[in-house]
Amino acid sequence: MKVLVTGGAGYIGSHTVVLLIEAGYEVVVFDNFSNASKESIRRVEAIVGKKIVVVEGDIRYREDLAKVFSSHKIDAVIHFAGLKAVGESVEQPLRYYDNNVNGSVVLCEVMSEYNCKSIIFSSSATVYGDPHTTPILEDFPLSATNPYGRSKLMVEEILRDVYLSDNEWKIVLLRYFNPVGAHASGTIGEDPNGLPNNLMPFISQTAVGKREYLSVFGNDYDTVDGTGVRDYIHVIDLAQGHLNALDRIRNFNEPMTINLGTGNGYSVLEMVEAFEKASAKKVPYKIVERRVGDIATCFADPSYAKEVLDWEATRGIDEMCEDTWRWQSQNPNGYII
Ligand code: NAD
Ligand code: UFG
Repeated sequence: MKVLVTGGAGYIGSHTVVLLIEAGYEVVVFDNFSNASKESIRRVEAIVGKKIVVVEGDIRYREDLAKVFSSHKIDAVIHFAGLKAVGESVEQPLRYYDNNVNGSVVLCEVMSEYNCKSIIFSSSATVYGDPHTTPILEDFPLSATNPYGRSKLMVEEILRDVYLSDNEWKIVLLRYFNPVGAHASGTIGEDPNGLPNNLMPFISQTAVGKREYLSVFGNDYDTVDGTGVRDYIHVIDLAQGHLNALDRIRNFNEPMTINLGTGNGYSVLEMVEAFEKASAKKVPYKIVERRVGDIATCFADPSYAKEVLDWEATRGIDEMCEDTWRWQSQNPNGYII
């Protein structure tokens, strides 16, 4: 089976490519390298001991995609390509809608032309907005508070409409909670541009000495210690969820919407403590104002994934921190070598 992985040079994509190749899938990576380094591909090749087919192109450009589909018989697409910075999406909404929504539309059009009608899409727990209760089930109300989140909601709805127009489509919408961690080799991992938006890379850059201290955004939430609680999931567990979905996609008779989380919530301070233990480094922090748009608590009910994908996360918070630390300490400047 040949799988096209859009965004396959990025953080989650690169880890998924490793697992796909190890499981015997043929893989074509498609990426415009807007938020990825070619070094990540070389590192993946070193892990799997094989050359990877990479096409540099943009999902918004039909000619780029047509080139891939005309030279490879693609059976299914795992669609990671997208922009993902919430704050940036507020400043540049049109860029986000063009890239994430328009790009996905063009991708589906070209897939349809080449009669490839199986797609796994990277959605996000952000589509639940501020949930009225936790753990979060797939049928909870949906909302978006920023263009990034809205782009995910839009693509989910577009894909459901595509299915309604043509029932041959096989569609899996995976809603990720908070991906962290890295491949156990420490050679691939998350490599954010500039100041990290997300907690885990900020903690690890502080531990390695690149940042002076972590700003903890508020300690007056209604949580165990007042800091925000999230469902951190190891990127390898997350990647495995895609393989389980791919394995079963032919048997799904309607679009499937599935949470990928662990079901456990950890606070910011619990994450700091776990990271200090894993790295044997201090992570200095200061409590600052809440970040606009943040919610107190977000964690998944992952039982549907267990039921329909026979998938559950197996890696705990210690392994997430240890693997992040191995990547960060071996690559203090990410893929810049
Ligand atoms: P990433 O930025 O590391 O990977 C995305 C990849 O897509 C990058 O390699 C980038 O170069 C590529 N890309 C972007 N626009 C493209 C385009 N127009 N054409 C071709 N390639 C393009 O991000 P990630 O963390 O690996 O996330 C992958 C997907 O998962 C994204 O769609 C993201 O929105 C979604 N997601 C991520 C998180 C998270 O916290 N990391 C949470 C929920 C959902
Ligand atoms: N936090 C800090 N300091 C930081 C960064 C984060 O205290 O420097 C806190 C946040 O306030 C939050 C927690 O750490 O309580 C996690 O924050 P992240 O930014 O890592 O994750 P979020 O859950 O806020 O956002 C992530 C993705 C979004 C996505 C959302 C829901 O970044 O793109 O999950 O899936 F929309």
